Amino acid sequence: MKNLFTPFSYKGLELKNRIVMPPMCQYSVTAKDGKPNDWHLFHYTSRAIGGAGFIIMEMTDIDPDGRITDFDLGIWSDEHIPAFQRIVDSVHSYGAKIGIQIGHAGRKAEDANPPVAPSAIRFNEKYRIPRELTTDEVKQMVEKFQKGVRRAVQAGVDTVEIHGAHGYLIHQFHSPLTNHREDVYGQDLSRFGVEVIQAAKAELPAGMPMIMRISAVEYVDDGYGLDYITQVCKEYQKAGVDIFHITSGGEGPIGSGGRPGIHPGYQVPFARHIKQELACPVIAVGNLDHPLLAESVLGNKDADLVAVGRGMLRDPYWALHAAETLKVKPEVPSQYLRAF
Ligand SMILES: Cc1cc2nc3c(=O)[nH]c(=O)nc-3n(C[C@H](O)[C@H](O)[C@H](O)COP(=O)(O)O)c2cc1C
Repeated sequence: MKNLFTPFSYKGLELKNRIVMPPMCQYSVTAKDGKPNDWHLFHYTSRAIGGAGFIIMEMTDIDPDGRITDFDLGIWSDEHIPAFQRIVDSVHSYGAKIGIQIGHAGRKAEDANPPVAPSAIRFNEKYRIPRELTTDEVKQMVEKFQKGVRRAVQAGVDTVEIHGAHGYLIHQFHSPLTNHREDVYGQDLSRFGVEVIQAAKAELPAGMPMIMRISAVEYVDDGYGLDYITQVCKEYQKAGVDIFHITSGGEGPIGSGGRPGIHPGYQVPFARHIKQELACPVIAVGNLDHPLLAESVLGNKDADLVAVGRGMLRDPYWALHAAETLKVKPEVPSQYLRAF
């Protein structure tokens, strides 16, 4: 048995293998009012048929103005639940587990006029200047996250991933560059994230772990580094996060130091660091498309799960092909057996 194809079990989440489809916004022009449609149903179902053990649905927002664009998914009303339930049921019927990424774009909500943020600092000159949330509005935002998570659970997901990465709202709160508030949410930069996690966790049934996606480093000048985010993650872990999904960047223009490379596995050292420091499972992501590389990340115990994003957009059957490369018998649907 190769590592990629060994089962994973943690706090009630049981996966048949360690291959994850990470959240990827479809910006699908056919998506109306944040509701997923046939595109999303077929898109996710085909990756389940293609052998991925765990699919995390794209960033799904808790407020219409929390979407990056008006073509993104949302979960701000009970009316959204059935469309997600249809995807969850379909993915389950093809043997994969499915989660959903819950988020809010904050100052990066491109179609919101104006967008909202911890402080009135815009992303860059092409973006609108956001309106600073009042303290009461921040508390209401926590409630919106809670309700979004409640609806996701009602739709039948196996777990929820809170989006704390890529420069979106929670990241904006815990980054010293974007949170200049003077209220309690500025005195403790991780407070908003902690409150969201606690509220969300209260909605998860026993036996459902919580995942959080985090940008391990920022690439703007004077951005935070790994030591800073490790402390933030420790707060988030205390508040209820069980598994971290480790990515990087997204907070603003790349600084003079540049991006530290987008070579294969460029984010794996961050995942390894968080795994070691927090002693919890982590998902590694970022240019891990080659099955041998993905396999080595697990074999070297740098991460517990490996996510393959663009690789799975190119090839819905990535997991079946990875099995062939690793000389593991692929779990081919009977309808396709003659092709493998
Ligand atoms: C089209 C597209 C949409 C994405 N949307 C999201 C998203 O909704 N949430 C998120 O956290 N990351 C998003 N990402 C980032 C991916 O989840 C992943 O971290 C990134 O593509 C790096 O992994 P890869 O090299 O395997 O593609 C997106 C990436 C792509 C290509």
